[in-house]
Amino acid sequence: MSYEILQADSGCPGEPTPNLEDYEQFRAAFDWDQARQQLARLPAGGLNIAHAAIDRWVLAGCGDRVAMRFIRRDWERRNFSYAELGRQSARFANVLAGLGLAAGDRVFTLAGRIPELYFTLLGTLKFGAVYCPLFSAFGPEPVRARLDIGGGRVLVTTLSLYRRKVLPIRPQLPELEHVLLTDARGADLPEGTRSFAELMATADDAWRIPPTDPESLALLHFTSGTTGKPKGAMHAHEAVVAHYATGRYALDLHPGDVYWCTADPGWVTGISYGAIAPLANGVTIIVDEEEFDAERWYRILAEERVNVWYTAPTAIRMLMKQGKELAATHHYDRLRHLASVGEPLNPEGVIWGQAVFGRPFHDTWWQTETGAIMIANFRSLDVRAGAMGRPVPGIEAAIVSVQRDPDGNPVAAEVVTTPDEQGELALRPGWPSMFRGYLGDEARYQRCFADGWYLSGDMAKRDADGWFWFVGRADDVIKSSGHLISPFEVESALLEHPAVAEAGVVGLPDPVAGAVVKAFVELKPGHEGSEELARQLIGFARKRLGAALAPRSIAFSDRLPRTRSGKIMRRLLRARELGLPEGDTSTLETNG
Ligand code: WT7
Repeated sequence: MSYEILQADSGCPGEPTPNLEDYEQFRAAFDWDQARQQLARLPAGGLNIAHAAIDRWVLAGCGDRVAMRFIRRDWERRNFSYAELGRQSARFANVLAGLGLAAGDRVFTLAGRIPELYFTLLGTLKFGAVYCPLFSAFGPEPVRARLDIGGGRVLVTTLSLYRRKVLPIRPQLPELEHVLLTDARGADLPEGTRSFAELMATADDAWRIPPTDPESLALLHFTSGTTGKPKGAMHAHEAVVAHYATGRYALDLHPGDVYWCTADPGWVTGISYGAIAPLANGVTIIVDEEEFDAERWYRILAEERVNVWYTAPTAIRMLMKQGKELAATHHYDRLRHLASVGEPLNPEGVIWGQAVFGRPFHDTWWQTETGAIMIANFRSLDVRAGAMGRPVPGIEAAIVSVQRDPDGNPVAAEVVTTPDEQGELALRPGWPSMFRGYLGDEARYQRCFADGWYLSGDMAKRDADGWFWFVGRADDVIKSSGHLISPFEVESALLEHPAVAEAGVVGLPDPVAGAVVKAFVELKPGHEGSEELARQLIGFARKRLGAALAPRSIAFSDRLPRTRSGKIMRRLLRARELGLPEGDTSTLETNG
């Protein structure tokens, strides 16, 4: 294997030295108890994410430190201290108590980056309920499916998102009792909604967090599989131990740092690393309301004197596209560590970081199910451009060869010891942020394990020195702009159209987004494929699914390739489209 090596960062004079100075030594000595002990327990007993992230700083006398610096779309900036976030989240816990919620009930947000989302997250955890974010670019159908599976009782959203995405499906959600709007009050409130601000204004700003069992449920994050409904990965309060430790050792957060995670809070990264990990490390988080904008991003990095930046390959590729000259309009002298997650990071991206910011991007790997970073390039180690890195201390990772039964259920997993041999990336269960199950779907959870390993669904290699390299997904899920898309969810929406008989959805390579969604459609008798119908179907899918999930292009086919049992063979559709080898087609039905 050939790759470029970028030298480890020894730190400029005056800069803090890496929290993890010697990987081998640290790894050998580390256990999770060490990290657990650095987080204060609750005065009332147990461990609560919101206490570890917010209240413990206030109790320690650091309440004046800026926890969150919010940048509005129009550039107006507003600081929230740890004490202020403590009060706002206490208010929200009191609001939930006033609404009659019980511990373990589910509270959802459907919103972009707004301060109320963070009050809701932390207040829900203080109260002892379970927090679940929804991506604001979802259409009504994905919103409905997730609120339904999650049994959401409370939803915090904005007036416009409510009108466009919730109102059409509200009658189908009998369990959704309370909808709180962040930007409407009084006469502007649609029927069946209440004002977030009014409820907060009359709520007490003190709240004593009840004793919290570290194993009690705290977070619900939806993710996608190739078949069936969205999966709600459940995480316990104990997860904060891993958030804290990975923030400290993988992202190299030092108390007082300014830290910017660009991920959307509708997904796990925006919560684990947009809020919990950095706050548990006592840093200032930057929250920018606006979406990607290269000029704006450079200005934020420079003006806010960002020390640690966590972003994603699609964003890096979009910045690269705009050229180095644009980056050179600012100075980034405070930037100490650059990291990336969510999809494969091309070596060119790693190196571009070095050229533009004087340091490489450090790839990290993890999943909704793992809750926290599992594999990372560390500040104190050389970066092998193109590698995902090495396992985080406390994590045992391996490449395994998996045997599956005819239904695809794993029956055995054997560790592959030969370096550079491809297999499935597996982790030894037991780390603090490991998911505790998929809500309401124990069978699917069990299918993630074999022979004492958690199977990630990613194919990878391990080189002779212990670096892990990404190869591809073992299944058909699509990663587009870092978002995990279920082909099944897209196919189901298309099948609701009266002209569609069958649909097969795949991801096609895209130089910027990584992959884009393409649908192959078989029409019902009496319908003809045309450009007009393709446009109609795309519009139909966008309306239901939202722009983030809908297909970019549609192709019509008289007969989609199926297995003998009738399952559409997406792998084959993709191979044919891209002119790749068709692989094993022994299960393909033979027509006639
Ligand atoms: C999938 C997980 C990333 C956490 C939040 C999203 C892909 C993730 C990398 C990487 C190549 C990556 C994998 C993984 N992925 N990081 N560094 N290199 N692929 O979590 O939505 O559950 O997605 O994202 O395929 O399984 P998620």
